[in-house]
Amino acid sequence: MPARTKRKPDAVVLQGLGGYVPTGVITNQDLESRLDTTDEWIRTRTGIRTRRFAAEGEATSDMATEAGRRALASAGNPDIDLVILATTTPDHPCPATAPAVASRLGLGPVAAFDLAAVCSGFIYALAQANAAVLSGQNRNVLVIGADMFSAIINPEDRNTAIIFGDGAGAVIVGAGEEGQPGQVSAFDLHSDGTCQDLIKVTAGGSRMPVNAGTLDADRFFTMQGKEVFAKAVEAMAGSSRTALADSGWNAEDVDWLIAHQANQRILNRVAGVLGIPPERAVLHLDRVGNTSAASIPLALADYASKFSKGDKMLLTAFGGGTTWGAATLSWPGITVTDPQQDLIERTTPCPSLQSS
Ligand code: UT7
Repeated sequence: MPARTKRKPDAVVLQGLGGYVPTGVITNQDLESRLDTTDEWIRTRTGIRTRRFAAEGEATSDMATEAGRRALASAGNPDIDLVILATTTPDHPCPATAPAVASRLGLGPVAAFDLAAVCSGFIYALAQANAAVLSGQNRNVLVIGADMFSAIINPEDRNTAIIFGDGAGAVIVGAGEEGQPGQVSAFDLHSDGTCQDLIKVTAGGSRMPVNAGTLDADRFFTMQGKEVFAKAVEAMAGSSRTALADSGWNAEDVDWLIAHQANQRILNRVAGVLGIPPERAVLHLDRVGNTSAASIPLALADYASKFSKGDKMLLTAFGGGTTWGAATLSWPGITVTDPQQDLIERTTPCPSLQSS
């Protein structure tokens, strides 16, 4: 039997995109009624007005499968040979959630694994997909970022309950030609484990298994917001500069900055440090909050109709680990059929946003 030859492509291109958010809307007023916070504080300190929470019984794989289905449809349903699911909230600690998603999408016995890099998960997963296709190992990869933070946040913790929401976003990347619109061109990835305590769920792993005596404080997600804010700005700006340099682009060349949707003040700061006008920074968090690994593909899906073929896009994220990174791509001019996006009412950016 002849050996299977794996042709190495010249480039990797984005071929499909889809997003999904649950229908349950949590407004700032809802939070105001049960937490020591106000709509005004949340809007002016974060830019968030609403977030979405999964319905009772809905899990990460349900959202990931729906986003994946939409991405596949937008790419014309190509044959997929690898699924990478970036998530911090898998359906179960064991096994991984990606194989279940692949099966539910009817993709057959394809390679499928979860990737854990918290809010940087999508950029990390996209980088692995890029390498897998460039090496000739895989032809078409479904990359999903999906998170259901409503399952791990403490509803009584105003530091986190106001920020996070649930959702999933997915892209298809595959073999393409050098210079083709949609080409993914540069990646820059980093981590710093000395800061692992800044963003954490303490219990539930091998260091502290969950048992009858586990405290709520250890069971829930915690974040040292102020420290994370400063590190996120510095890390995303630095990584973005490297990815731009590796692509041969300047900040003026960037048509769209798609930064991880954590806080509008962080987005503005990163854009300002890089010298990118704020109107070129995509703002999606106002309607869905911080959706962790889903935030970049969801923001892409939300804004897809505003992008033009060949637009230069800079993607960057920062998250727990800590992890961070950046990537560049040109816009492929694909169509995103996503009725769910109609449910996300567009609102104007918060005018009274505080700058520090
Ligand atoms: O996605 C992964 C990466 N995550 C991020 O990038 C998140 C980064 N961090 C942030 O977005 C912001 O740090 C937060 C939104 C979490 C907090 O905003 P901040 O401007 O850093 O607030 P702060 O923690 O410095 O608190 C300022 C004041 C404090 O009161 P005093 O000490 O000045 O009297 C807090 O107690 O605001 C108070 N505060 C609140 N007040 C009303 C903190 N949280 C709230 C709240 N509602 N929810």
